[in-house]
Amino acid sequence: MSQTLRVETHDTHVRATLDRPAKRNAIDRELIDALHALCAELERDPRTLILTGAGGTFAAGADIAQLRERRAADAREGINTHCFARVRALPMPVIAVVDGYALGGGAELAYAADIRIGTPRLRIGNPETGLGIIAAAGATWRLREIVGEPLAAEILLAGRVLEADEALAVGLVTRVLEPAQAVEEAERIAARIAALDPAATQATKRALLAPRDAHPAIDLEEQAVLFDSPEKERRMTAFLERRRTT
Ligand code: COA
Repeated sequence: MSQTLRVETHDTHVRATLDRPAKRNAIDRELIDALHALCAELERDPRTLILTGAGGTFAAGADIAQLRERRAADAREGINTHCFARVRALPMPVIAVVDGYALGGGAELAYAADIRIGTPRLRIGNPETGLGIIAAAGATWRLREIVGEPLAAEILLAGRVLEADEALAVGLVTRVLEPAQAVEEAERIAARIAALDPAATQATKRALLAPRDAHPAIDLEEQAVLFDSPEKERRMTAFLERRRTT
């Protein structure tokens, strides 16, 4: 069990809180290992994941004390990159409640989520070039996909840090709520997802994550499986019969 990633299991979701507030939840190797362990569990037993940070911060980046000691071989190992890619590829949706600072690797972890909810004190961006490195754990492709290349370029090349209203305006977060309400909203979304067909949700996520040239073949294959599923039959029949009796 990690001391710095607090994991709570609820009926409709699992909540994981980055809990290293004295270091602004900086993502160190221990946190990465704990995230891998959590991913392994959610791959075996898929559930919606809500990611939060303790102490009014999402995460102030990768741990700079550890980063300073890393060399070329460590960069090629992609310590954070592979971990965040695994979070991104989790079978069920990932919702990040992004409160306060989400910088560098912290921002990249947030970019790996499917749904992001901000708080009024959100500050999100990628100051990596100021530390003499690039944002190699998702920002150069994922941030561009989310906000488009012009703004991604400003964030990545000029160190622009977005505040909550700006992040909302460009869709980097889809809502801004006070921290407690933001968590409640994430829980409401998780409850809504839990009422849907998990196989359809997982198929939708796989299709959403597939590269452009995989469409529409992947959509048709996913749909083919679902069209023959008893759950689809059950859900559609329930809908049709309910309408007939009302
Ligand atoms: N890695 C390692 N330690 C970090 C850290 C990081 N990314 N971010 C913060 N910390 C540590 C600080 O070194 C400090 O440790 P100390 O108390 O032992 O000296 C502690 O967390 C508190 O940080 P501090 O800077 O005093 O907090 P703050 O509230 O004044 O400022 C930030 C918060 C986020 C603005 C500031 O900590 C910061 O700029 N962090 C680095 C952001 C960054 O460049 N991230 C990209 C990394 S890839």
